[in-house]
Amino acid sequence: MSTPHGRRASLDKQPHEVAAMFDGVAARYDLTNTVLSFGQDRPWRRATRAALGLRPGERVLDVGAGTGVSTEELAQSGAYAVGADLSLGMLYAGKRSRPSVPLLAGDALRLPFADGSFDAVTISFALRNVTDPDAALRELARVTRPGGRLVVCEFSTPVNPAFRTVYLSYLMRSLPAVARTVSSNPDAYVYLAESIRAWPDQAALAAKVGAAGWQKVAWRNLTGGIVALHRAVRE
Ligand SMILES: C[S@@+](CC[C@H](N)C(=O)[O-])C[C@H]1O[C@@H](n2cnc3c(N)ncnc32)[C@H](O)[C@@H]1O
Repeated sequence: MSTPHGRRASLDKQPHEVAAMFDGVAARYDLTNTVLSFGQDRPWRRATRAALGLRPGERVLDVGAGTGVSTEELAQSGAYAVGADLSLGMLYAGKRSRPSVPLLAGDALRLPFADGSFDAVTISFALRNVTDPDAALRELARVTRPGGRLVVCEFSTPVNPAFRTVYLSYLMRSLPAVARTVSSNPDAYVYLAESIRAWPDQAALAAKVGAAGWQKVAWRNLTGGIVALHRAVRE
């Protein structure tokens, strides 16, 4: 779906709509994230890096890297971290704000890397936006070496029912309203709320990861399950 001033993808997530929507949020993406998550995005990113267990000199691919904010965090480990994304607008914003972070254009469904190129792969807040998440999980496995690791950082389902009710109300009502005051494309945050609500819960996503050729699948909840980290190993 497109509007003259803002772009919002529909839930069938056509790649051109998704890329255009992220082009529209790129300018203020990092700030909007921090505001809408009450600063929780930083600890979520640190937890993702820790879950990957990166060692200096390892190669890690960050798919759906956007402005490179998630890629930059990974590089703190001493690993060589490279980001790939579909939205040129997000990549350009990242090149401006983080010139030292290697970012390139690439589709999660057809990554521009040979089989087994990486020691670890990760995708933060992006798998939910891909047209075919199962195919993306298989493609991530393809570019990972045997024994390599996967971490998916994604919005999930709060485990406490009362907290879940409060959170869903924030998501559907307050978040789009707050986004109108900070984002360069507030419509995108209506999509954000809808796509989180429609996304599989922790156990269902773990089943998808396992079905895509990953072993030893496990997850850990962050902030009561607002976010879950799914990790797995390629055998
Ligand atoms: C919410 S942003 C996440 C950015 C960053 N990883 C973070 O943690 O803030 C989602 C990103 O996924 C990208 N994306 C969506 N579908 C994609 C695909 N098929 N291949 C690569 N990137 C994709 C979007 O362009 C967008 O930049």
